[in-house]
Amino acid sequence: MTSVLTRWFGLALLLTTGLTSAYSQEQLRPDSVPPRPVVLPIADPLTMNNGSKVNTAGQWAKRREEILQLFTAEEYGQSPSRPAKMTFKVFETDKHALNDKATRKQVTVLFNGQPDGPQMDILIYLPHSVKGPIPLILQLGFGGNYTLSDDSAVRLTSTWVASGKGVIDHRATEACRGKGPNNDVELILSRGYGFATIYCGDIAADDKDSSKDGVLRLYPGLQDRPDNFSTIGAWAWGLSRALDYMETDKDIDARKVAVFGFSRLGKAALWAGATDERFAMVISNESGAGGVKLFHSGRGETIKHLCTAFPHWFCARFSHYIDQDTLLPFDQHLVVAAIAPRPICIGSAEGDKNSDPEGEFYSAVYASPVYRLLGTTGLPWPGHPPVPAAMPSVGETVAGQIQYHIRPGSHGIITYDWEQYLNAMDRFFK
Ligand code: GCU
Repeated sequence: MTSVLTRWFGLALLLTTGLTSAYSQEQLRPDSVPPRPVVLPIADPLTMNNGSKVNTAGQWAKRREEILQLFTAEEYGQSPSRPAKMTFKVFETDKHALNDKATRKQVTVLFNGQPDGPQMDILIYLPHSVKGPIPLILQLGFGGNYTLSDDSAVRLTSTWVASGKGVIDHRATEACRGKGPNNDVELILSRGYGFATIYCGDIAADDKDSSKDGVLRLYPGLQDRPDNFSTIGAWAWGLSRALDYMETDKDIDARKVAVFGFSRLGKAALWAGATDERFAMVISNESGAGGVKLFHSGRGETIKHLCTAFPHWFCARFSHYIDQDTLLPFDQHLVVAAIAPRPICIGSAEGDKNSDPEGEFYSAVYASPVYRLLGTTGLPWPGHPPVPAAMPSVGETVAGQIQYHIRPGSHGIITYDWEQYLNAMDRFFK
């Protein structure tokens, strides 16, 4: 840890609020677009804890392990491996779903093989327009699977769900069907991809007072320790368990699964993609603090807010860093880098100041050297490294192995966001 603390590299983080983007121009014109440089100390993804430089893919594999250990110990906590007794039960298959456009499958994952133990349902739609094993988006959802659409065949969850005020005190009712965030399932299917969703609350309740529910209670040895199994850790783990099922389903191309999450669930999707290399792509929509955003930006949500409003999301040790946002010996670009060379899509909204679009953008920038070392583009920007002098314009998508877009509007997931992600899937999966 000490060596991490003492190693910095002081790349200039050029904060450019309000400047015109240079991405659509052939070259940056720094003279006409004066940046507001702020030199920030930020951990170098390509320097090992012992100070040696990472120059090869083999060395990077070791550095990636260091990064995962660091974030396990300090932020997201330990997660168990796949439970030996876990079982899957496909309890419904309907080839005539969504007006005959898709096959719907519903699967229960019994985490410890016990019907009365913690369990989650996976809801899957596979389009009929595509033959063979189908690539898909796996979403971690805010509400039960029945909040995805008004499809009355989707089973209501038996887990507690949140009321309108976010308090987890309800049982699922018919009235909640289709009340989740925009999922654009029909658009996704029409583009030739499947869509699967799981409910975060089936895995672990999003509640600081019941954070030992769900799968967390299966692992008493991972509680009451600084690097405890956290809620975000559990959600990410649940995504991997859904992928375990997909590897058994011949209708799904498990080698082409894009893991998706929005906001707090985008934080979990990011950690799932970083830890589980079977995910072929990661989509982290407005994940903000504890997700893609750099704490070093000093804007948007702070560690203090995260650890006081949502202490269950992270391991206990993370609260050690309260008020240290811009002094952290690590930052979230390292989690993005741990996904390299697999593609990641990062989406921001201009008005989502809590998530800090610039902090999300520059996280992609600082992860890029790893992508480039591994022979991919990372986030391409005009001109030359080390850092671009301007954010992309609102409405622009920068498409490399790291894809970044920023759109007008506020915190949310809208059709425009899905279109950017589907375009990336076309680039990498077709
Ligand atoms: C809050 C929280 C964010 C989180 C968001 C969400 O705004 O501060 O960290 O991303 O909720 O999940 O919607």
